[in-house]
Amino acid sequence: MTRTPLLAGNWKMNLNHLEAIALVEGLAAELRDVDFDYSKADVVVIPPFTDIRSVQTVVESEELKIAYGAQDVSVHESGAYTGEVSASMLSQLGVSYIVVGHSERREYHNESDQLVGKKAQVALAAGMIPIICCGEGLDVRKAGKQVEHVLAQIDGALEGISAADVAKSVIAYEPIWAIGTGEVATPEDAQEVCGAIREQVAKLYDQQTAEAVRILYGGSVKSSNVAEIMAKPDVDGALVGGASLKADEFSKIANFEG
Ligand code: 13P
Repeated sequence: MTRTPLLAGNWKMNLNHLEAIALVEGLAAELRDVDFDYSKADVVVIPPFTDIRSVQTVVESEELKIAYGAQDVSVHESGAYTGEVSASMLSQLGVSYIVVGHSERREYHNESDQLVGKKAQVALAAGMIPIICCGEGLDVRKAGKQVEHVLAQIDGALEGISAADVAKSVIAYEPIWAIGTGEVATPEDAQEVCGAIREQVAKLYDQQTAEAVRILYGGSVKSSNVAEIMAKPDVDGALVGGASLKADEFSKIANFEG
């Protein structure tokens, strides 16, 4: 079973819609310059909500093969939920991926594994692919408990999701201590947890589901370290923050095999 590598840029709360247009156009141009083969990896940008319509317009009018995602979704369909954005609103804009349970949302918005799982289900029900985030803080890592911590997050988030839906989903392992710090987990650290996640999916579901689900690493990924991380057998891609805000750098990450 071969899993298509996925290189996703989480822009977080950066770039207005004009800057978003410039970045997507710049990224497409960089990839065109190196004759990037879009059949060998999925390239995804994940802008703030306010940029999505503009990104859609660029992607559609220029027929780009870059996909785009959203950084969060409401668990509600519609109604009196001030400030929230529904899955159907996002799918209407051509969104294909939704990040759920990023550590920044878990930390600043108290998102639980159960809520994260519900968001993943809402994304799947609307035909989009959830990128389910997990990862341990520095205290857990120092105690050597990263695997059990992450597997508990996975157990909670996947509860009630069918094998077929998990097979389509993406799981992103992002150790919190490596996010935005310049501190990268070693390829072995990434493999340890990504491999454990895949084994857990096999345990909860079956081998076929485990081999289908894509597992990403995130945390200070750059063009200079992406290849060694991608070389690990259970790492199928990267969720990139800071380095995804520069067209040339993110295009090099997408083109990690050179
Ligand atoms: P950095 O690549 O900036 O460390 O961010 C990682 C991340 O949180 C992506 O979701």
